[in-house]
Amino acid sequence: MQSPIQVYLDSLRTRLASMQGGELANYIPELSKADPSWLSISLVTMDGVAYSTGDSEQQFTIQSISKPFVFATALADRGVDFVTRKVGVEPSGDAFNSISLNPKTGAPLNPMINAGAIATASLVSGGTPEAQWERIIASMSAFAGRELGIDAAVYRSESETGFRNRAIAWMLKNFGIIDGEPMASLENYFRQCSVLVDCRDLAYMAATLANGGLHPLTGERALPVEHVERVLSVMATCGMYDFAGSWLYEIGMPAKSGVGGGIIAVLPGRFGIGIFSPRLDAKGNSVRGIEACRQLSQDFGLHVFRRAGEPAMALGRVYTAAEAPSKRQPTPDMRSYLNEHAQRIKYLCLHGYIAVDGVEYVIRRMIDMVPDTASFILDMHQVDGISESAARLLNEARLRFAGDDIAVVFSRIHGRHAIEHFLSTTAPKTDHGYLSFEDNDLAVEWCENRLLGDSQQATVIRVALGDCALLKGLPPELLALVADAVVKKQFAPGEPILTTGEAGDGHVFFIEQGYVSILVPLDDGAHQRIATLGPGMSFGEMILLGQSKRSATVIADCQVNCWILDADDIDHLAHDAPMLRITLLENLSRDMAEKLRRATQWIAALA
Ligand code: DON
Repeated sequence: MQSPIQVYLDSLRTRLASMQGGELANYIPELSKADPSWLSISLVTMDGVAYSTGDSEQQFTIQSISKPFVFATALADRGVDFVTRKVGVEPSGDAFNSISLNPKTGAPLNPMINAGAIATASLVSGGTPEAQWERIIASMSAFAGRELGIDAAVYRSESETGFRNRAIAWMLKNFGIIDGEPMASLENYFRQCSVLVDCRDLAYMAATLANGGLHPLTGERALPVEHVERVLSVMATCGMYDFAGSWLYEIGMPAKSGVGGGIIAVLPGRFGIGIFSPRLDAKGNSVRGIEACRQLSQDFGLHVFRRAGEPAMALGRVYTAAEAPSKRQPTPDMRSYLNEHAQRIKYLCLHGYIAVDGVEYVIRRMIDMVPDTASFILDMHQVDGISESAARLLNEARLRFAGDDIAVVFSRIHGRHAIEHFLSTTAPKTDHGYLSFEDNDLAVEWCENRLLGDSQQATVIRVALGDCALLKGLPPELLALVADAVVKKQFAPGEPILTTGEAGDGHVFFIEQGYVSILVPLDDGAHQRIATLGPGMSFGEMILLGQSKRSATVIADCQVNCWILDADDIDHLAHDAPMLRITLLENLSRDMAEKLRRATQWIAALA
């Protein structure tokens, strides 16, 4: 099925093709050779999918669209303070080639006009102009996600006719804005404007800015995240020169145009847009490019000042451990205590990108639940990322809840930099850090143990053989026979006790002390824990129902003492005392019924 985005872009291109206004740029002679009918539109998503329509393979020179990327490079190389001393960030309201300099300092008003761009080209790192050029082309290529080159004919054409820019460069030298040889910096500026791209390249470059400086396909970081909003802010206020005010008012996306006919538009966290149509209006902006962005903004609601979603969207399902207990098999006493108190463990499923408005709503809902809460599990599985300010507020809330003896733990954030980074860097230094678990089952078991700890239930660390659930109800004389038949064995922490698929050896295990994890293999070679068993519980008992192979792997979580009973001994004892088998099977049926009930609960909770 063709994506409706692709269908829309194709129809948009068809609608725009009939627009005839505008002229090719001719003050750079080589640019006047373009085909005025060329028209292409590309849109790139945050996971790097590119939709394109029209002459999307047609290459052209990037011209002024290079400016935000070289400004970004200068910020990354020389730092904000140094760069803003050399180039301002104020809109000039003048044309792109105006000589808008600060009357006191001589600094260009912003890096989007030619004067500002020529200045920033001189600021990138590199001991020589050649090294600076290598830095510029490498940085622009990182934003595009491929190695870029220049159109030598356009570069030569501009260098031979760029007299106004030469005058600007000497002015900048005169005011000490350019420290080195101004003509060398100017040649690098001409080269950056002559870089060859197609509209997909533009859309990927825009998407890299939308994606916080990370290329959405290559994953390469083209710009440190802290500079992205600075670049976008200057694009939003200055990118379209003396059309910037109307652009932000009508279309509402940080953008940058170029006299080669390109336009980029950036929607932070959502899309990068690249458009190419060489016919320009009097301000040097692509006529069809502006109309394409206007229609995209209106039809897709892309204006940055448009409300994006509701804070409440940050929070999805809320349920409790009474509905979804851990998969551990508690002792009967633990189970009855948990049945009464497990609703005090709350799961909150968070969604999407968590900013301050979303985290405010989540915390408010948590505060509302406090009277009947012992711990919160914040399931972050469907969270795309969290802002620094939201992470800071969440850490503060976590510590405040801890002050009221309410635990806040996270699940399913392991290895997810977009979440872990700010949660870690915004935690107060006095804090021991947040607690996170790989899955909800481990998280809820920790919360159950914490709850049981309040009741002293968790202190059950050793049981007698007769307390084992599978042997409950055995007459003393039969229990004595079993006690004579069992063999005691100790397992070290992490020691495998049973392995999935191995032939059953007829052994049934009764845990006297310690805990074991029951694991099932997953397709990717990992294992999923399905239960934790403690004192009084048994495993391997399916042998009693004729199972020939072990259906799960059992690992000792700590030092574990077990009684081991051989199924042959059970057959032998049951021959003279059938009550033994009857009692074992009755207890096994009761246990399986309970497991089935809990599985149904989990399925209902997850549904
Ligand atoms: O310096 C110049 O005039 C050109 N190399 C770039 C101007 C430009 O792209 C203006 N943007 N619309």
